[in-house]
Amino acid sequence: MNQVIKELEARRAAARAGGGAARMERQHAKGKLTARERLELLLDENSFEEYDMFVEHRCADFGMEANKVPGDGVVTGTGTINGRMVYVFAKDFTVMGGSLSLAHAQKICKVQDMALKNGAPIIGLFDSGGARIQEGVDALGGYAEVFQRNVLASGVIPQISVIMGPCAGGDVYSPAMTDFIFMVRDTSYLYVTGPDVVKTVTNEVVTHEQLGGAAMHSKVSGVAEGTFENDFEALVQIRRLIDFLPTNNREKPPVRPHFDHADRDENALDSLIPENPNMPYDMKEVLHRVADEGDLFEIMPDFGANIITAFGRMDGKTVGFVANQPMILAGVLDIDASKKAARFVRFCDAFDIPLVTFVDVPGFLPGTKQESGGLIKHGAKLLFAYAEATVPKVTIITRKAYGGAYDVMASKHLRGDINYAWPTAEIAVMGAKGAVEIIFRAEAGDPEKITQRTQEYEDNFANPFVAARRGYIDDVIIPHATRKRVIGALRTLKNKQLSNPWKKHDNIPL
Ligand code: HXC
Repeated sequence: MNQVIKELEARRAAARAGGGAARMERQHAKGKLTARERLELLLDENSFEEYDMFVEHRCADFGMEANKVPGDGVVTGTGTINGRMVYVFAKDFTVMGGSLSLAHAQKICKVQDMALKNGAPIIGLFDSGGARIQEGVDALGGYAEVFQRNVLASGVIPQISVIMGPCAGGDVYSPAMTDFIFMVRDTSYLYVTGPDVVKTVTNEVVTHEQLGGAAMHSKVSGVAEGTFENDFEALVQIRRLIDFLPTNNREKPPVRPHFDHADRDENALDSLIPENPNMPYDMKEVLHRVADEGDLFEIMPDFGANIITAFGRMDGKTVGFVANQPMILAGVLDIDASKKAARFVRFCDAFDIPLVTFVDVPGFLPGTKQESGGLIKHGAKLLFAYAEATVPKVTIITRKAYGGAYDVMASKHLRGDINYAWPTAEIAVMGAKGAVEIIFRAEAGDPEKITQRTQEYEDNFANPFVAARRGYIDDVIIPHATRKRVIGALRTLKNKQLSNPWKKHDNIPL
């Protein structure tokens, strides 16, 4: 018996050794942790249960039969994060660059299947050179098996990808179909083809960083939902994110005990809106003051920053905050902001997370760049997402709600449940100046008349009462009572029942 146990231990040790000490050393020298070190940080202490550590590839080409490492370049299994079950896989770059063989793919598929069956989130840690070059079509088929499972799990369990090294070729599309992609600064790259292929095909010379670095994807392309400084910060933050999320689409998000009174007043909000409607203020301050303990987890903080999307809690329960940010581009809705917020709204709706929307929006961004970029279709994504959402929707207009953007931002007309306005709200087709220039064009030569008309327009429309008289606003609230009122509204919506007509699926403007 002793001998058998010793043999088991030896086999386990061989699997844990991955690609060997020298390659682990190289991994550390690059500022990266190994796959197992990463899982240790991600999961609760001693909670990791590993599967398939003895799996080997079955490739016999290019001398591969003599090049086998148990585990085959990916560590898979289950564990807990603050006591709640998750499934994980972590690519081991020390084993053939974390490249994907058929056996490696089958290990990932196994945990994907278990996560879906058992209703738990799945987190993938990526650090890989793509398809195992020696395997050919087996590797390609393996990727497609993973992709298929990503799609079936979408909207059923949260799927999170963390890019912690190279991630190229076939490895990019699985993360792309998950709910969130996070990257690590300076050590992670995400691209379909690397700089060498780019040079061959297009003659363009680019660095890894320019082509697919964390800064590019979290600020320019919008492929990544966020960037962290290093492996350690990334894993700690993913633990935080998981705490906000339900484990699947049939469970409620966890309720977190807190020490923040539901009826806490925030007097500073009463003087937050500047006298001059063209002056900005920081909408993030509103969110921090309203959320439980000011605790927020922002999604895409550096992309489309004219809209804020963040998880927070109200009265201990997770909510999705969507808020126009007057500090950036006056909070206008453009292509990036629309896509960003639409995806966030759909995630919240899929996972039964109520939406709390703060509105200060001067409209959609005009111009040829936006129109030729497809603003109509992209703006419609956000409109569509809000309109189809059946979760509780509480909306607060703090200042401007102009034009089509008023409709889009969870208005009453899109089944907003409770719609509040601060007394500073201005709900109109457009700002007074623009409106007067159009409807009183004949008086343009008379500045005195124009000033008078502008004042008239402001008096009539630069307030929330026209909308309130029609019932489009349920109440005009004092800003300092916002937290109390939103929590009160969410309590009334606790048992909300609303469903859309039966359909196979909708046809959101992609
Ligand atoms: C097999 C691979 C590999 C791969 C890396 N390795 N990528 N083995 N298949 N795809 C091995 C290397 O041989 C090396 O082995 C070890 O991993 C580390 O690689 P290095 O090149 O030394 O590391 P580094 O300098 O850090 O460069 C990392 C890298 C580079 C940028 C990822 O390895 C690279 O360009 N790899 C190829 C990327 C690629 O073209 N993949 C195929 C994509 S096509 P030793 O033994 O020396 O440690 C694809 C199509 C799928 O994925 C489409 C499905 C839809």
